[in-house]
Formats: sequence, structure tokens, C-alpha cells
Amino acid sequence: MTKYVIHGGKPLFGEIDISGAKNAAVAIIPAALLVDGSCRIENIPQISDVTLILNILQELGADVRTVNRTTVDVDCSHIRNARVPEELARKIRASYYLIGALLGRFGSAQVPPPGGCDFGGRPIDQHIKGFLAMGAEVDVRGGFIHARAEKGRMQGTHVYLDIVSVGATMNIMLAAVLAEGMTVIENAAKEPHIVDLANFLNSMGADIMGAGTDVIKIRGVERLSGGTYSIIPDQIEAGTYMAAVAAAGGEVLVKNVIPKHLECITAKLLEMGVTVEERDDAVLVRRDGKLTRTNVKTLPYPGFPTDMQPQIAAVLCLAEGTSVLTEGVWDNRYRYVDEFRRMGAQIQVDGKIAVIEGVDHLTGARIQACDLRAGAAMVIAGLAAQGVTEIGCIHHIERGYEDIVRKLSGVGADIRVVVTPDEEKQSQVG
Ligand code: EPU
Repeated sequence: MTKYVIHGGKPLFGEIDISGAKNAAVAIIPAALLVDGSCRIENIPQISDVTLILNILQELGADVRTVNRTTVDVDCSHIRNARVPEELARKIRASYYLIGALLGRFGSAQVPPPGGCDFGGRPIDQHIKGFLAMGAEVDVRGGFIHARAEKGRMQGTHVYLDIVSVGATMNIMLAAVLAEGMTVIENAAKEPHIVDLANFLNSMGADIMGAGTDVIKIRGVERLSGGTYSIIPDQIEAGTYMAAVAAAGGEVLVKNVIPKHLECITAKLLEMGVTVEERDDAVLVRRDGKLTRTNVKTLPYPGFPTDMQPQIAAVLCLAEGTSVLTEGVWDNRYRYVDEFRRMGAQIQVDGKIAVIEGVDHLTGARIQACDLRAGAAMVIAGLAAQGVTEIGCIHHIERGYEDIVRKLSGVGADIRVVVTPDEEKQSQVG
């Protein structure tokens, strides 16, 4: 087993550079399927979810070349195959973007149902509602979602989303870019990565208006051609390090961010007594006094992000007084609470509400990451805790955080990756 071992209780000082946004990258890379020519994609985060998506494209026949650590050239011009390999696709939630992208490109797609973190049910009915409205037939058989445009090409139409869904908004955009006529998505999600996907597609020749508002209009074009695009910084990675400083104390300049994207997180940290100063493309986060209680409810953007819910819970565990945390997006995103309790946290969960009674300090314990953001929150708790915290199942964390150990060590955290002898023996055996 590989684990993180953290000797906590040390404040953090220095600078952290934020990588490209995971949830933008995992949509923009499949979007390269729609482009006739080579796309140079810059500011790609080095995380396992990105590697998986690139591997899937390669298996489909794309030419993927690494230019440097954060840049790849992806050329999908020669792909003729619309059936996605099962093993890889099941490991990642974002494999659903291949349905929209392949439907847009070929008018047909065969994609296994997506994997990803377990937060209770994760339906994709709104994605399918969009594809059906655009003239596709969709059915599930033999473990695959089969989708086919009845007229051979997707048809522009109006789609009203019953739920604000990031994935459905982006997937319908992907299916609409090369469709015949205009597609209008109403009640669309407004997350920064939706704007980023639209900007990527527009820079390749698409005609998308209104991304970042709740009505997105996509006028279908005949073809997209290659170009260069740089992915936005990761809002959630930045928020995670901001929360780490809030919990552990210290002063850190979080660099390469878009401060506007962080306002929903900044607002809550300010309420808790943390100092956050906005710079052009950085935020300075400082915490030296006590943390104050607050209430947090997660909502679609520009609300407080659900992907920051476990991390802010880690901070609230150390705030004076009682805080109420409400999960407004997912049914079951409190699976980490038992692990926090092992560290002395006082949390009661009732459905979507967690009541957190702040404690003076957390104490190190052996715990297991149960999903990506919960794992990041456990790192934060470990950094703030007294004593030693060992976190297992860190593959969840490495799905979405590039170089987390190096970045935290760079600001003075005592965090190491430890491979237990068992795993060494296994890897020697092969
Ligand atoms: N929903 C439906 N039907 C659908 C789609 C969604 O009922 O067809 C519901 C979901 O069950 C959920 C809500 O709508 O209750 C929002 O889901 P959404 O579709 O917005 O989520 P997603 O696209 O599957 C993305 C991120 C998640 C993030 C959510 C919300 C990716 C690959 N994943 O998921 O990120 O939590 O948006 O912002 O972009 C993470 O990065 O840790 C992560 C889980």
C-alpha cells in the first residue's frame, strides 16, 4: 500500500503554483475529437484522470504527442472508431464526454457507463434528454451506451435542463458544435470550466454564445480546425490549498489563479477570520488567529462549490462554535465523516446536513481516503492535527491533485509518500 504520512501541526509559509483545471481538461481533451487537425493543449494538469482520458483517445486512434510537462498535441483527424474501450472508460466519470464528442463527430457513439467518485446515484438522464432532443437514438445494451443520430448528423434544438448539471451542459455543447442548425441550452450550468470548454471550441472555429450564463446558444458549423489553447487554472485545487492554510495556519501566496473564480471560497474564509488578499493572478492567504464558525451551503456556480465541501469541513472542525454545512448538489457526500471522527472531529450528519462542533485541535490517526476531495480534506486535517496522520487509498487524491506532496512540502509541510514493504514485494514480483 502507498500512503501519505503527515507530521501535523506546522503552519505553512511560502508559495504554491496552481495547475490547470482537472474538470476543464477532462472535457477539452475529448473535445479534440471534433477538430479536424492538431490541437495543442497547454496547462494540462499531470493527474491520473487526464492520463486516462488521453489513453482512451489513443486507443481510439488519436495521435497524442507530449510537447512538455504541461502541453500535449492531440490530433484525432484519423480516428474512424466510435467504440470506447471498456476497461479505461469505467475508471473515470468524464468518459461520458466521449458520448457527446463522438456523436458530434461521427453521428454515433458506443461508450461504457462512466465511473468516478461514489456520491450515491450519479444519473446521466439530462445528458440523454439532450441527445434525444437533438435527434439521437440512445439505448443501453451489452454494457455499453449506444447512441446514434437518426439523420446521421445531430440536429440543433432547444434543451431545457431539469437540473443544473455541469456534465449535461458540456456534453450537449459537444454534441451541438457540429450539428445542423442552432442548439439552445436553457438552465445551463455556469462553472468556469464550461466557459473554458466554450472558449476552446470557439478558438477552433465553433460558434458558441452565452457560456457562463444560464442560456447557451450553439450555432452548428461545418468543421473545426486545429489551434493552440491554454486551460484555466484549477479553482478547486487553489481552494484546497487556501483551506489548508486556514486549517494549519501560516501565510501562503497561491499563484496562477483567477481570483474571480475563487470569490465563493474567499467569502467563506473571510467570514471565518482568515485573511485573503487578491492580487492580479494570485491570492495571499494568511491565518494567525482563531477560526470563527460559519454556515456553508454548496450550490452550482457561483455558489460555494460542492467539490470544496469536505475541505471546508476540515477547517470548520477547528473553528470556535457550531457550524452547519449543507450539501446542495450530491445525495451522499459525507462518507469521509467517520475518518474525521477518528481524528477527534465532532460532526453529526443528518441527510444532506452536517453539524460541526469546533474542537480545539485534531489528533493524527490512520485513515483512508474514500474519494478525491474527501482525500484532499484528510490531507488538510492531517496538516492541522497534532501528531502523525497516515492516509491510505491515495490513488483517489492523485486522480485530481498534481504533485500535492511536493507542493505542500514546498511550503513547509512534513508530508511524505511511504510505500509499505508489501507493495514493494508485489511490484518486484511484477
Ligand atoms: N444529475 C442528474 N441527472 C443528470 C446529471 C446530473 O440528476 O443527468 C444530478 C446529479 O446527480 C447531481 C447534480 O445533478 O446531484 C449535479 O451533477 P453534475 O452533472 O453537475 O455533476 P457531474 O457533471 O457529474 C461534475 C464534476 C464533479 C462536480 C460536479 C458538480 C467532472 C468530471 N465532475 O460532475 O467533480 O462535483 O460537476 O460541480 O467535471 C470532483 O472534481 O471531485 C467532482 C466530483
